[in-house]
Amino acid sequence: MLLYESEVPIMKKTLIAYFTRTGITKKLAEDTAKQTGADLFAIEPVKEHSSSYLICVGQAKLENLQNARPAIKAKPQNLQDYDTIVVMFPIWWFTCPNIILTFLEENDLSGKTVIPVCTYGSSGKGSSEKAMTAVCKDATFKPCIEATGLKDKAVAAIAAVIEEA
Ligand SMILES: Cc1cc2nc3c(=O)[nH]c(=O)nc-3n(C[C@H](O)[C@H](O)[C@H](O)COP(=O)(O)O)c2cc1C
Repeated sequence: MLLYESEVPIMKKTLIAYFTRTGITKKLAEDTAKQTGADLFAIEPVKEHSSSYLICVGQAKLENLQNARPAIKAKPQNLQDYDTIVVMFPIWWFTCPNIILTFLEENDLSGKTVIPVCTYGSSGKGSSEKAMTAVCKDATFKPCIEATGLKDKAVAAIAAVIEEA
């Protein structure tokens, strides 16, 4: 049966851009991509953070204090094709890692819907929403999803927000 143009369902395209240090956020990003059909992009620093937790804690604190913008290896291809950008990251010092601010500033996300998703140890999302919206004013932000505990539940919660975005 022929559909009128207005009846053709609009498929929104979603990109999941993630930053990870020890792999927890990467796994969540991959599982969510598998579940939703979204594309994946790894936000990779030019200069890797230390694999030592304690040294990395110091590096993260310094980046935070200096309001640094750690350089990213590459930009996502064809960003203009995506309506929704899921930005996944671990919480560092009660906020998003500064490399997330680099990502938001370096890429034109105007007019897009941004869904922040954080993994964390115990504190939750902290001030990550405030930090992200301050540097990316032309996108529409959804509340940051705190993804922890049961992985399948987290994937389902993220998939539901992507669906309604
Ligand atoms: C430098 C650093 C700072 C962290 N700060 C916090 C924090 O403030 N609150 C919290 O709940 N977890 C904190 N964590 C724990 C991570 O957010 C958590 O382990 C995360 O799931 C790791 O994700 P990843 O494996 O993708 O790197 C911190 C971890 C690191 C390395």
